[in-house]
Amino acid sequence: MIDRKFPNTRLRRLRKNSNIIDLVSENTLTKNDLIQPIFLKENLNGHEPIESMPEVNRYGLDESLKEIQEIINCGINTIALFPVIDPDKKDDQGSEAIIDNNFISTAIKTIKNEFPDITIIADVALDPYTSHGHDGIIVDDCVDNDSTIDALVKQSLLLANAGADIIAPSDMMDGRIKFIREGLEDANFINTILLSYAAKYNSKFYGPFRDAVDSAANLGKSSKSSYQMNVSNHDEAIHEVGMDISEGADIVMVKPAMPYLDIIYAIKKEFMIPTFAYQVSGEYSMLKSAINNGWLHKDVMLESIISIKRSGADAILTYAAKEISKEIFKS
Ligand code: PBG
Repeated sequence: MIDRKFPNTRLRRLRKNSNIIDLVSENTLTKNDLIQPIFLKENLNGHEPIESMPEVNRYGLDESLKEIQEIINCGINTIALFPVIDPDKKDDQGSEAIIDNNFISTAIKTIKNEFPDITIIADVALDPYTSHGHDGIIVDDCVDNDSTIDALVKQSLLLANAGADIIAPSDMMDGRIKFIREGLEDANFINTILLSYAAKYNSKFYGPFRDAVDSAANLGKSSKSSYQMNVSNHDEAIHEVGMDISEGADIVMVKPAMPYLDIIYAIKKEFMIPTFAYQVSGEYSMLKSAINNGWLHKDVMLESIISIKRSGADAILTYAAKEISKEIFKS
């Protein structure tokens, strides 16, 4: 043996076996950390696959109830709903978004009736409903902030009235949290939770989602850069989140997740309020397709989700929620 002076601490002592590794583990993912997004398609019976999102489907309302039962059986209690609207109902104002008894409000009522204990997150933005695929109303070639807010407040009240527990504005208009909060208070929805997509970047990782909700073709080459954040910015995210909290957000969200772990970390540290992260469609699809091709081990999905939790996220929206939950449950 060579005569060596070892350091006092050998970090490998705590990596001796899996029991000890688990004993000193700093972060543990539980089923309570996971939120399952679901695509609900109007006038569909059964389900259909989404080509750019392996193993993710669009569901007709009937079959979605079976899927939600399975999700609940996997221990997940929170779902985020995204409607895929009949193309004939889209117009340049996104009018269908605020029409009583539209598809998503019927869906929320039906789901709540069947599963009273599930927590429903309902997205607020006009893009599933607009013929141009933008999140707001266009005036003079630009998505108009203030007229869009009027529509978003109405949309929020419709969703709250249908029974959504959490209203999640994903549109990135300035001031919408303030006006939605006021609207909810005035209509006596004092316990409706506001989850703000506060730091939402103008990301190319949303591509598969736009296929899923059928807005990609409508949007064409047009960009959301006049309302979603520049991917280069960090301080602006802190500014956005601070404003949304002061306007009445209960929870804030960062989106996408894995390419923005620095932002999640900074926001949680700065504000110490519930902070969610959205592992978006493109993040899911790149991992899933590499797994399905045998290029990456299937555990990269869990690793990616734990990395998001470790960065400070309290809960994570991920298309892999159900499958990951099954895995955690097994062990
Ligand atoms: C739309 C919305 C988007 C996502 C959630 N809500 C797309 C966009 O802003 O174009 C993206 C989610 C994902 O990619 O999984 N308001």
